[in-house]
Amino acid sequence: MKREVLFVCLGNICRSPAAEGMLRQMHSQSHSPLELTIESAGTGGWHVGELPDKRMREAAKQRGITLESHAQQFNPAFFDRFHYILAADSWVMKELLTMAKETAHKDKVFLFSHFASKIAGQDVPDPYYGGEEDFHRVLDLLEDACQGFLDHLHEEARKRP
Ligand code: 4NP
Repeated sequence: MKREVLFVCLGNICRSPAAEGMLRQMHSQSHSPLELTIESAGTGGWHVGELPDKRMREAAKQRGITLESHAQQFNPAFFDRFHYILAADSWVMKELLTMAKETAHKDKVFLFSHFASKIAGQDVPDPYYGGEEDFHRVLDLLEDACQGFLDHLHEEARKRP
């Protein structure tokens, strides 16, 4: 099964590139036959072209994850391209749902935490104006969110190989 997944936050330099890198790593370690394309984007365009925030790269590196994506702004054409569009928090989700003009597009939008077991339905808070501990807190939340999402994809693949 092939799936294209897009993580979206505000700036595309903290939460969504971290989710992208973490899901990619979890997927490669799971040796699953699932063919996943993973990207991330921001609803805002302030940081387009930049690497993820240095503080997030450092925190992720401590968990063995290298973040090397370059920021891009969300484009409504992504609603057709991606199967899943995952929003970091309810604000981002609201913005995405406003841009989605078709029901089939709205149906692709979920919170990062939608498939999580411990943090289901919770926002992943923006760490940009926070301290080092806030970046680690984001990574803790993403571990649950990404594991739950990967489990969901494996379940989906079992039903529809
Ligand atoms: P992110 O964090 O949405 O997790 O990438 C932010 C990064 C930058 C800004 C806001 C949030 N900013 O306003 O520049």
